[in-house]
Amino acid sequence: MTPGFERVCPNPQATTALGVALGGLLEAGDFLALSGALGAGKTHLIKGIAAGLGVPADEPVVSPTFVLVREYQGRLKLYHLDAYRLTSAAELFDLGLEELTTEPGAVVAVEWADRVPAAVPQNACRIEMEHVAEHVRRVRIAWPATERLAALGLSFPTANASVLPR
Ligand SMILES: Nc1ncnc2c1ncn2[C@@H]1O[C@H](COP(=O)(O)OP(=O)(O)O)[C@@H](O)[C@H]1O
Ligand SMILES: [Mg+2]
Repeated sequence: MTPGFERVCPNPQATTALGVALGGLLEAGDFLALSGALGAGKTHLIKGIAAGLGVPADEPVVSPTFVLVREYQGRLKLYHLDAYRLTSAAELFDLGLEELTTEPGAVVAVEWADRVPAAVPQNACRIEMEHVAEHVRRVRIAWPATERLAALGLSFPTANASVLPR
């Protein structure tokens, strides 16, 4: 069972704050696997993560749906991928996923990761986002990096802290 917690983000600013806190905890080699329906807030959360990594605010973080991968330079390099249009993990590996995940000083975040489960490493930080209401999203995070997960939970204290069964 991978330890995790869930939070309700009552507005976009809360989701940004969660992303900033997570971005501040990232280490080279981390893999973020995001899932959730269109409009669930995956790209929005990654904007916060980029900010938390120190990516300059004037650098636009937008969905890589059409280019498949975008890169942003902060304290670490952030590779932002979108598997929406892919049908298999093999396509991601063809695009060079292996090089991105092993690049020194880089982290990888993949939207629609549930479409390419074979591309998600065991130690990934798995983030599931769900539309609750117009401005409200539920975020579930499962991450084997227990200490950082706990730090993230503490930096974003809300009710509903729990351990998710896997
Ligand atoms: N609490 C919230 N957290 C994140 N996004 C929210 C929230 N409330 C409203 N939104 C809006 O929902 C949309 C999410 O879009 P986006 O991040 O592109 O979703 P996805 O990448 O999952 O398709 C944005 O327009 C954002 O402003
Ligand atoms: Mg998106």
